[in-house]
Amino acid sequence: MTGWEDEQEELNIEVVDRPPKIIQVTDPHLFKEEKGCLLGLQTRKSLSAVLDDIIEKQLNPDLILATGDISQDQSPESYEYFSDVMDKLETPVCWIPGNHDDVHQMAKSLTGDYFSSAKKINMGKWQIILLDSALPGQVYGRLGREQRNFLSKAIKSQQVTYLFPVLHHHPVDIECQWLDPLGLEDGDELFEILEGCSSIRGLLWGHIHQVYDQYRGKIRMLATPSSSVQFKPLSKEFAADTESPGYRILELTDDGKIETQVNRIEHIEFTVDYSIKGY
Ligand SMILES: [Fe+2]
Repeated sequence: MTGWEDEQEELNIEVVDRPPKIIQVTDPHLFKEEKGCLLGLQTRKSLSAVLDDIIEKQLNPDLILATGDISQDQSPESYEYFSDVMDKLETPVCWIPGNHDDVHQMAKSLTGDYFSSAKKINMGKWQIILLDSALPGQVYGRLGREQRNFLSKAIKSQQVTYLFPVLHHHPVDIECQWLDPLGLEDGDELFEILEGCSSIRGLLWGHIHQVYDQYRGKIRMLATPSSSVQFKPLSKEFAADTESPGYRILELTDDGKIETQVNRIEHIEFTVDYSIKGY
């Protein structure tokens, strides 16, 4: 079960006397091999550094969102590794696939004690709605009719005040010429649904390996550095960036605002081969 088959399945996370806190970890690109590298960077090592930072800073989130490209090679071992290391945070983890993932292998292998296949998560006045934008064999994404229906139905049946959809691909152009054609193909259809619903306050994605933070009406649109290699913002051609791996903290307030910041792992040396021209 990938989690979208059962529309009734919801995860309820109780948070008392404070805003719900989420940490987004995205695009770790893990390999079967322990020392597997993306552009020269050992991705297991950089994910570990991200998780150590979350633990050291005692951030204690209520939920972790893993927003795709968990694996680079779709191996069961890469997902099992992710399952094992994320469980150390002792926090519920929910997930979506990215273009590099195999959604069925994920459902089979992400079986950690803290993992949930739920795609609707209720936290205080908010509901997080997870969407699958990955297309097998393609780098660009598309929600398609089924996923858009899943979102529309979630909107119609909402019991909470604010909604926050999450996907892997960027639904708007980010002025990165090589990445823009690799975003969400049915972004216009998505925004048609979102713009008819005043409860939508945020939209969150991965995929672009860089920070994005802009408003479209009431919707705060956010993307986040990868826990592995970064891509250079505003670049015409593929280019890795010299920025460090990172993650995003989000606090969802009772009056419908998203307080958020990105943390980067500054204190660790990473070897990234910036000369590689391809992804
Ligand atoms: Fe990625």
